[in-house]
Amino acid sequence: GAVPDLAGRHVVISAGGTREPLDPVRYLGNRSSGKQGYALARTAVARGARVTLVAANAALPDPAGAEVVPVGTARELREAVLKAAANADAVVMAAAVADFRPSREVDSKIKKRDGVEPEPIALVRNPDILAELSAHRPAPAQIVVGFAAETDDVLANGRAKLARKGCDLLVVNQVGGGRAFGTEENEAVILESGGPETPVPHGPKETLADRIWDIVAGRLSTA
Ligand code: C5P
Repeated sequence: GAVPDLAGRHVVISAGGTREPLDPVRYLGNRSSGKQGYALARTAVARGARVTLVAANAALPDPAGAEVVPVGTARELREAVLKAAANADAVVMAAAVADFRPSREVDSKIKKRDGVEPEPIALVRNPDILAELSAHRPAPAQIVVGFAAETDDVLANGRAKLARKGCDLLVVNQVGGGRAFGTEENEAVILESGGPETPVPHGPKETLADRIWDIVAGRLSTA
């Protein structure tokens, strides 16, 4: 078994992808499978943590030993994560949160009518949960981890995003060309505020999860 270096710690993980309703039957969504977040939950349980997994629309089995809180939209995810984060040692935002949602959700199904063009879909911003978590920590020692998917200038864009979001760690995936979303494997660089870059070679999502927990556990033990 794993070293129980997260024993006595409470970690909160968001996983999956939010769905933003357009009408009662349609939504704007994304291709996140939730696999990386679920791998983080399983590995954290194995390392002794109490785990709250805020799961957005992931069709995956509940990780044994984790508390699973199902959510649908970005605003529901925000509520659930902020509540669980109030007594957490670390929060890892692995979910793909919709940056925008339709400005209004209509109560009845949008109909097509002969000879009538559809209305454009107006969007509004969703709250940036990662930035909010980072700015309003219940305890200064709480560790906040974000994810970023970048297609180019991965390190430069990653460093800029780490600073902009105000989190401690940013796990940067290179995406595009069929990489990352929905696959069993991942390749990433873990960026740390005031710290080094840790490349994690192509491999199982559990391996990347364990490298993230190595850094989180190390930071918690020296805090
Ligand atoms: O800005 P971007 O979407 O690239 O940032 C990705 C990171 O920010 C992920 O950790 C994601 O969970 C988080 N995020 C968030 N709230 C949003 C958008 C993204 O917490 N509205």
